[in-house]
Amino acid sequence: MKRFFSVDDVSNLDELVNDAILTKKKPLNKSELGKGKTLGLVFLNSSLRTRLSTIKAAQNLGIKTLTLNAKQEAWLWEFEDGSIMNTNTVEHIKDAANVLSQYCDVIGLRCFAGLENKEDDVSEKIYSLFEKYATVPLISLESATLHPFQSLADCITIKENLSANKKPKIVLTWAPHIKSIPHAVANSFAQWMNRTDYDFVITHPEGYELDAKFTQNAIIEYDQKKALQDADFVYIKNWSSFKNYGKIISVKEDWMLTNKKLEKTNNAKIMHCLPVRRNIEVSDEVLDCKNSLIYEQANNRTFAAQIILEKIIESNEKS
Ligand code: CP
Repeated sequence: MKRFFSVDDVSNLDELVNDAILTKKKPLNKSELGKGKTLGLVFLNSSLRTRLSTIKAAQNLGIKTLTLNAKQEAWLWEFEDGSIMNTNTVEHIKDAANVLSQYCDVIGLRCFAGLENKEDDVSEKIYSLFEKYATVPLISLESATLHPFQSLADCITIKENLSANKKPKIVLTWAPHIKSIPHAVANSFAQWMNRTDYDFVITHPEGYELDAKFTQNAIIEYDQKKALQDADFVYIKNWSSFKNYGKIISVKEDWMLTNKKLEKTNNAKIMHCLPVRRNIEVSDEVLDCKNSLIYEQANNRTFAAQIILEKIIESNEKS
């Protein structure tokens, strides 16, 4: 594996999830693999889970980490090619990516969608530029359109909680929020679910359609109640409008998930990537119920990161 940006970088998803589950059982089995290696973690946005789970994964493999909160601690980056840098930007991304590559064997980058320029976000302008100029493998810690480590952790969590002999129905439901939120987690979950043989349904109000590039053949159901019928797993997430890019469209019905709405599910397990706005996106009663997998998902972030780091180091050792 030379990069980790999306599910397209995974040759066999089932095998990857099984390997991650084995890693979870013996996390220190390859504690010497990363000896002498350095992982750079570059954040243009805040993080709790991604930052700490990836550091922990690296530690389990004997990899040292360097973390840079690029917006707060580094020079302000310029992203335009050929620009005359006579305003407030101090360092071009081409220099930053190249210099960081001098200190690291692998780099992780978090660069959220700005939600102001659809073309820049959809084209992954920042991630692509960084990858173009970095000279070591790049892994995504969430980009403008996708969050692959979250989706891999979600696949691990679902696999661990499957009922025997039953193809699960997985429902991704939109939830309300007070701010404009990027599409990365929802896009990514859809993309990874589309690689499984699970029944996958997305439910959201009209106007909140995700980019069809990621949802592909998923069933879209505008009636949340219908969508939740017989669900085995319910994944809750807010996202802003893609069509009316980055905007919040007002919705008449109450889309917040409650225990009452879960009555018609098949005793569904509850998932959310966190952080969550409690009692806005999801009620406390749902997040704290016995079927909630939210902390298992967070725990599995470590093993998602660890299996990818392991594969990247092993394949680059060979080359
Ligand atoms: N779920 C997730 O990526 O959490 P952080 O934003 O805290 O890293």
